[in-house]
Amino acid sequence: MNPIKITSKKFLTLLSVISGFLFLASCQPGDNNPGYEYMPDMAHSVAYEANYSSYYSLNQFVSEKDYRKYAMPKSPVAGTRSMGQDAYYYPNTEEGRARASAELIMAKTPITEKGLERGKYLFNIYCAICHGEKGNGEGYLVREDGGKFPAQPADFTLDKFINATNGQLYHAIKYGKNVMAGYGDKLNPEERWDVIHYIRSLQAKVKGKEYSANKNTLNDWAIPAHHSSAE
Ligand code: HEC
Repeated sequence: MNPIKITSKKFLTLLSVISGFLFLASCQPGDNNPGYEYMPDMAHSVAYEANYSSYYSLNQFVSEKDYRKYAMPKSPVAGTRSMGQDAYYYPNTEEGRARASAELIMAKTPITEKGLERGKYLFNIYCAICHGEKGNGEGYLVREDGGKFPAQPADFTLDKFINATNGQLYHAIKYGKNVMAGYGDKLNPEERWDVIHYIRSLQAKVKGKEYSANKNTLNDWAIPAHHSSAE
């Protein structure tokens, strides 16, 4: 065997092991050091992302202050509202709840087939787990054998909630109540009305009344879409 050949083979092996360690070590972040980036602009977008600050000093050509001025949300033009924005002025306080309950009587949307369908879909996703698919407060989370939720969800079929104004329901949906979280960030205003209409239709079922796009014999607070004044 040629001794020189063995040595160079060993040397190569040693070299590759050392460089392997060096390579791995270069990726190790130190205490507060993220390590080195190869071509930083590939990880950090140069573009302005809408409503999101992704400022990265090596990759933006303006100061952070200017960057934020361009990238962050702007207020609507004075005297205007953005589409879908809520024209609901009652604040998330007990006083706001009381005022909404007393003042917000008429539903802002008529009862339509489509709205009831959407309301049912949304109710079953967001509310039925606690309030039950029938709206009677017997959802899966509060079931008798093994329910875990500590508080009793409202039973919408009680007279107390049948007589509750639309404003009272709307406020609870938008902001929540006590341990119930608000759904203002999940349901837009139209969807909240769809859900309210659907809850009303569940109440009507219990009372043997009709609450549909054709007729509303449950209350005077929502107009059926196919309502004709000749009736
Ligand atoms: C995690 C369980 C939970 C979910 C999910 C939930 N609720 Fe509730 N809800 C409650 C509880 C508990 C109460 C009773 C709150 C209280 O009075 O302290 C309540 C109360 C209410 C009330 C009555 C408020 C009042 O004025 O007394 C309404 C209306 C209501 N919920 C609507 C909804 C709707 C609509 C959804 C779905 C968008 C929903 N809730 C989802 C638990 C839940």
